[in-house]
Amino acid sequence: MKDKILQLKKEKNAVILAHYYAPAEAQEIADYVGDSFYLAKVAKKSTADILVFCGVSFMGESAKILNPEKKVLMPDLLADCPMAHMVAKGKIEEMRDKYDDLAVVCYINSTAELKTKSDVCVTSSNAVGIVKALPNKNIFFIPDRNLGSFVAKQVPEKNIILNDGCCPIHAAITREQLLEQKKLHPKAPILIHPECEPELVAMSDFIGSTAELIEYVAKSPLEEFIICTEDGVDYKLTTDNPGKKFFYPIPHPCCVDMKLNTLENILSVLEKEDREVFVDEAVAEMACRPLYRMLELGR
Ligand code: 13P
Ligand code: SF4
Repeated sequence: MKDKILQLKKEKNAVILAHYYAPAEAQEIADYVGDSFYLAKVAKKSTADILVFCGVSFMGESAKILNPEKKVLMPDLLADCPMAHMVAKGKIEEMRDKYDDLAVVCYINSTAELKTKSDVCVTSSNAVGIVKALPNKNIFFIPDRNLGSFVAKQVPEKNIILNDGCCPIHAAITREQLLEQKKLHPKAPILIHPECEPELVAMSDFIGSTAELIEYVAKSPLEEFIICTEDGVDYKLTTDNPGKKFFYPIPHPCCVDMKLNTLENILSVLEKEDREVFVDEAVAEMACRPLYRMLELGR
């Protein structure tokens, strides 16, 4: 399957982008692997005719919005991020009516529709910097209450209004699960993704996006780490750091949508080109503005 994928990629001038939560087999064959911000930048710069996005639907959608002329394929179009939909109807309009200077800051884990109503997009690696850089005092942060709450702590000078959405995978990790790992591995620092509950973030040693957690491990002289995020990062962590050990909450946090990016699905979509991402033109025109603003402010 790998050989066939490599051959088809060459023939069709296609590139494969994979998020760190995609299965190891997808990361292994991908041309680019990274966190959400890195992948959005790669998608924007790519000169390929076809982008195969091994992630979830908001990632494929964002790639398409940034590259309307390119064919964006996803190995499984059903791979979706539940959090991307978690903003109640009318909530943004209600907040805009309430605050004159409101900026709607939209985590990239959101539908294209939500992006059309937002002022700027952010990812977990640039959210703090972008919110700091905005001239607005009042910020409605959607959809993730946990990333929003992390940003609020880092940027106390702003009034950050939280929305009640969350990643069901990260939000399900409990304090007890984390304490259990700490008990078993007392010397290991806890590295955590800001999509986790604030209580857990507060008891951690380092907070960052997937790429930032991976970079922290690479630079650290320590040998053991408690990793509090989706377990797809284990592929990169173990291949880049032989000899270092990684421990996860039990059961391992696992995003079933990300795991739909199997080798079979990658090969099949490259052969048939049948799972193409389409975004309504009017929606794309409006949703590209906050994405471009993120690329500009996040530089
Ligand atoms: P990052 O890779 O940007 O940290 O995002 C995590 C995530 O949940 C993507 O869906
Ligand atoms: Fe969405 Fe959470 Fe899966 Fe990331 S890990 S894609 S935020 S459900």
